[in-house]
Amino acid sequence: MSMSLDESCSIEVAVRVRPMNAREEEQGVLPIINASEERKEVTIVRGGGNRQTRQTYTFDHVFTGYTTQSEVFDPMQPMIDSVMQGYEATVFAYGQTGTGKTHTMEGDVMDPNEKGVIPRSVEAIFDRLGHKDKYSEFSVSASYLEIYNEELTDLLVELPVTLKKAPVKPVPAGDKTPREHGLNVMEDKGTSTKPGRGMFVQGLSEHTVGWSAVETRCRALAWP
Ligand SMILES: Nc1ncnc2c1ncn2[C@@H]1O[C@H](COP(=O)(O)OP(=O)(O)OP(=O)(O)O)[C@@H](O)[C@H]1O
Ligand SMILES: [Mg+2]
Repeated sequence: MSMSLDESCSIEVAVRVRPMNAREEEQGVLPIINASEERKEVTIVRGGGNRQTRQTYTFDHVFTGYTTQSEVFDPMQPMIDSVMQGYEATVFAYGQTGTGKTHTMEGDVMDPNEKGVIPRSVEAIFDRLGHKDKYSEFSVSASYLEIYNEELTDLLVELPVTLKKAPVKPVPAGDKTPREHGLNVMEDKGTSTKPGRGMFVQGLSEHTVGWSAVETRCRALAWP
């Protein structure tokens, strides 16, 4: 996860170890990972007795099965400040299926303790915007994209049923017809006089979620 715009390093990597689930508990599975939030270390213990091996890895942040959603988000707060200063920031969750990516990023959106990184980030952004002076003008927009099996899907577009079954086809330039598949990743390198917008997803919908004058409405719209 990229968490802060520190002068020395702009990328930070965190690991979160989830607690055993009910099935693992039932089967009496033994944990092979020892995580220390304090030492920022994860130790993998393999085998037993004389043949036991231990490998220790160090991260910028280590979250254990006891770490709360709020504690996971805390180190990301400086990143929100960087965004408000105009920098771009990315929080990226990676891991095999069932390891807790969705739990960490989304969590239970309706539960103040269990909500994850995305609702907390949106709230933090609107909170900071709410403290700007009344002459500031800003707009916030959101896109929601799924990449699955190397296919890109716009999750904020209501799809006609027929399109859900449409075969994968390349999208002609400028075509904004909603479709399940076929969004393309493009790069705008710009010209010698005008900087480009860099990497972007062609045809991905952007939804404006609020204005400074109606902060309460923003909050309501920010998390559909
Ligand atoms: N830190 C945690 N504390 C409690 N429960 C957790 C934690 N992390 C994950 N879980 C639970 O474990 C299950 C799997 O987690 P989750 O769905 O977030 O995995 P995922 O990485 O998104 O998997 P997939 O790649 O299949 O989407 C869920 O029931 C989730 O609530
Ligand atoms: Mg998931």
